[in-house]
Amino acid sequence: MTDTWDSIADWYAERIRTGSALHAFNREVLLDQLPARLTGQRVLDLGCGEGIIARAVAARGARVLGVDPAPRMIEHARAAGGGEPGTVAYAVDDGTVLGTVADGCVEWVTAGLSLNNVPDLDAALAAVRRVLTPRGALVLTVPHPCFEAPQAGWTRTADGTERRVVGDYRTEGFWRSDNPHGVRRAGNQHRTLATCLTALLGHGFRLEAVGEPAPGPLVLAEQPRRAGLPPFLVVRARLGWPRLVRARLGWPRLVRARLG
Ligand SMILES: C[S@@+](CC[C@H](N)C(=O)[O-])C[C@H]1O[C@@H](n2cnc3c(N)ncnc32)[C@H](O)[C@@H]1O
Repeated sequence: MTDTWDSIADWYAERIRTGSALHAFNREVLLDQLPARLTGQRVLDLGCGEGIIARAVAARGARVLGVDPAPRMIEHARAAGGGEPGTVAYAVDDGTVLGTVADGCVEWVTAGLSLNNVPDLDAALAAVRRVLTPRGALVLTVPHPCFEAPQAGWTRTADGTERRVVGDYRTEGFWRSDNPHGVRRAGNQHRTLATCLTALLGHGFRLEAVGEPAPGPLVLAEQPRRAGLPPFLVVRARLGWPRLVRARLGWPRLVRARLG
């Protein structure tokens, strides 16, 4: 049987529940790009899986809706509950459609390791843009495009250290890992760094932050060979003009300038 996110949902939820250092690190990397307090803010968690990020965002006070197209993932997310002091709800929905989400209704969209699963990134970014408020922001993580490309692997050098083999970086599109214990056995859409960032710019997002954090001690305890290699790319991208530009180019000043 070919693995899908729905068919591996039980395995994935168990992996998160029993403490995957890499997924906990991903959550922290993403949360670092959000305000410490989100009281009164509305957040959509796109591709929420079993809810690891949605719960953490709700714990900062936000009202969170987590969506995922895999019904079994949503069952796990609902069963896990949590999220106090804000509220968290879940719906089965596709990130390229977001049919359960009204226009302009969230200040933030979080997407932890999910946009690398959507086949049509343009459709997903258009949907994200539609549901965000005019100055809303998207915070996303994806497996680092440079080091997690198809066929990336490890090689042992003469001195016995393990080094990353980059893989088929330029080969974009769907690929499936043949590791029977790997997350990407359910498939993954590889895109280069340039494709990811250019797509955001093309949909009217401004890049506020781009990060490649090196793994922390808990990840290295599980996988020492990852030292110094960022497992994820994190981006915070916002709609609308920066505050300073808006202040400098306020309407009265613009009109005065135009009228001479
Ligand atoms: C690696 S998991 C990440 C889940 C969660 N965000 C986390 O950090 O654990 C990838 C998730 O993307 C979801 N996904 C796959 N295709 C999607 C799509 N078209 N729209 C939104 N999410 C999708 C999968 O169902 C899966 O739950």
